[in-house]
Amino acid sequence: GTGTTTETATTITPGTAPGFPPFEMKEGGELVGFDIDLLSAVVAEAEGYQLGEWQEFAFDSLVPSLTSNKIDVIAAAMTITDKREQTIDFTNPYYNADQAILVREDGSFSPSKLSDLSGHKVGSQSGTTGENIAKELIKEGTLKESNYNSYDSYVFAVQDLQNGNIDAVILDVPVAQTFADQRPVEIAFTHETGERYGFGIRNGDDDLQSALNEGLAAVRDSGRYEEIRNKWFGS
Ligand code: ARG
Repeated sequence: GTGTTTETATTITPGTAPGFPPFEMKEGGELVGFDIDLLSAVVAEAEGYQLGEWQEFAFDSLVPSLTSNKIDVIAAAMTITDKREQTIDFTNPYYNADQAILVREDGSFSPSKLSDLSGHKVGSQSGTTGENIAKELIKEGTLKESNYNSYDSYVFAVQDLQNGNIDAVILDVPVAQTFADQRPVEIAFTHETGERYGFGIRNGDDDLQSALNEGLAAVRDSGRYEEIRNKWFGS
């Protein structure tokens, strides 16, 4: 900012779905993570806007919460997809990811390709691109519908994996890596999807979209983006 008055700034309410470390998670009751820091930095550089209080939802409730005006922007490691773009808009991309297949690190199940999941129990978070892969496997007959579990949060899916209730979790690589660093689980293999995350906004919120895109560019130029990335992912 240039230190000009903020008396005309519009407050935008951000929404997220914690339980997706290190993008958004609860630590000692506090909402923290890469997305939380990045959106705050971006809005600080976005002319005419200021950030309101964070609202938390299940991931599959974020788009409906945006379109019904409960929130004004989604910051939830949300992949920009054609399907979502039929309902909402996105800013420019701010992070790239593929999918990973996470298993227990005890060696009881070591798949190396998606078809190896056949006959095993698989989980993912409801409404995610990881779930899309599971649904695709069900459609083509590789995975039995009764062998697929949908979770409100990936934290519960990984818990069920550790407990032996399921044998694999499909989720974004950076988050799978974070769980693997903290728990007795490991990435069996990755599945290249070339996903890009964007902040979600309502269709037609063009002023907000430009302001956030300019804020994102400013945050990259100033080195702040790299600082935030290093803070949450190491350098
Ligand atoms: N990138 C994936 C998607 O867009 C997963 C995002 C899950 N995010 C979350 N905050 N739980 O579907």
